[in-house]
Amino acid sequence: LKYIARIAKEEMFSKGCKIFSESSSGESFYLTISGRIKIYTCSPSGKTKTLAYLDPHDFFGEMALFDQESRSASAEAVEDTRVLIINKKDFQKLLLKNPGLTLQFLKAVCQRLRQADKEIQSLTFQNVFSRIAHILLKMADKYGQPQPSGIKINIDITHHELAQLAGTAREMATRILKRLKNIGCIQIGSTDNKIVLTNIDKIKDLIHY
Ligand code: CMP
Repeated sequence: LKYIARIAKEEMFSKGCKIFSESSSGESFYLTISGRIKIYTCSPSGKTKTLAYLDPHDFFGEMALFDQESRSASAEAVEDTRVLIINKKDFQKLLLKNPGLTLQFLKAVCQRLRQADKEIQSLTFQNVFSRIAHILLKMADKYGQPQPSGIKINIDITHHELAQLAGTAREMATRILKRLKNIGCIQIGSTDNKIVLTNIDKIKDLIHY
């Protein structure tokens, strides 16, 4: 940790600030301390697909350092975010000197690959309704806060962001949320606009593969 403290520099990115762009060259590795990062990719026609949201203690920017290719995706702060940045040479030295850390790191990368495989499965076999229902369940797992009426997803997520996660249009995400609300599966907080899952079993039943 002392070594990391020596080689890492801390930086702050304000909400909406781009940290790096897809296809740029990768010179650094990043660890989030606070805030939230969106990892996303754009199609040639300008459509955006969100690949992941990263929280405090998550890392990003390792792929371009490992395979010497360009950045596989863009990274943007969706909240005011503090990160630790380690340059490429120091990052490589750190891994070479610490086999235990390298193994932990490989484990985390494998978990991301598993997650990405699941996402391919979802995009291939599930319809948009099921994908959105699935995303809401995953978010409730990660950010859920029990309430008398159900499980509140305690992060600010817009319909637009939900659509970009599901790989669909914002209008479609809004329509699906409305349908989930009408059939008693979710409620939208009147003051904070946050989504509360009011019938998780029913949502699970509605997911088709
Ligand atoms: P890099 O390719 O250097 O720059 C973009 C970063 O986004 C990449 O390294 C990973 O750290 C991260 N990333 C890419 N794809 C995913 C994903 N599917 N899930 C989580 N993080 C990802």
